[in-house]
Amino acid sequence: MAIKVTAIIGSNRKESYNLKLVNYMKNRYAGKLDIEIASINDVEMFSADIEENPPKGAMDFKLKVRNAEAVLFAVPEYNFSIPGALKNAIDWMSRSGLDLLGKPSFIIGSSMGVLGSVRAQMHLREIISNPKLQPKLLPGNEVYIGAIHTKMNEQNDLTDEATVAFLDSVVENFIKYYNEVK
Ligand code: FNR
Repeated sequence: MAIKVTAIIGSNRKESYNLKLVNYMKNRYAGKLDIEIASINDVEMFSADIEENPPKGAMDFKLKVRNAEAVLFAVPEYNFSIPGALKNAIDWMSRSGLDLLGKPSFIIGSSMGVLGSVRAQMHLREIISNPKLQPKLLPGNEVYIGAIHTKMNEQNDLTDEATVAFLDSVVENFIKYYNEVK
């Protein structure tokens, strides 16, 4: 049976490459991963004043993560870190519910630059190492897809064979890891 994965896209841009990448994965790995996207776009700004009673956008997002069997992060890089909208969604997950705790997870990311969001992903790993977040994160298997705009066609399929082969291997590794730690 396919693993029920909630994908958290770190971009709130309509034409996001990270969103396109996850949609590509949704098709390519159908049958292995059942990917549902949890959008960060409607998650209200976190405030400790409302944390006990999260508003609808935040609550919907939290429940999609909480009810998933596994989580996939797809992150771009903004100013050497993760986008603020993603940090806001993560702050919500760390309060009233601890939605991410112990959830088998893996991280991918892409950017138009050559580094493929490496600094954002390193920062994300540090952020989610907080004891209130701490998913069971797939070790190794770091996916930095640089120059993403040259690796997709107009149908938003990943066309770079080496990247596709690498992503295939990471997904297989994640499935093995999931079955060990779930
Ligand atoms: C960026 N971008 C970027 N890229 C990078 O490699 N390092 C960086 O520090 C930044 N900083 C940055 C800040 C801001 C405010 C923006 C809008 C963009 C480029 C960014 O990673 C690129 O546009 C990605 O394609 C955005 O991801 P999505 O929206 O395509 O998923």
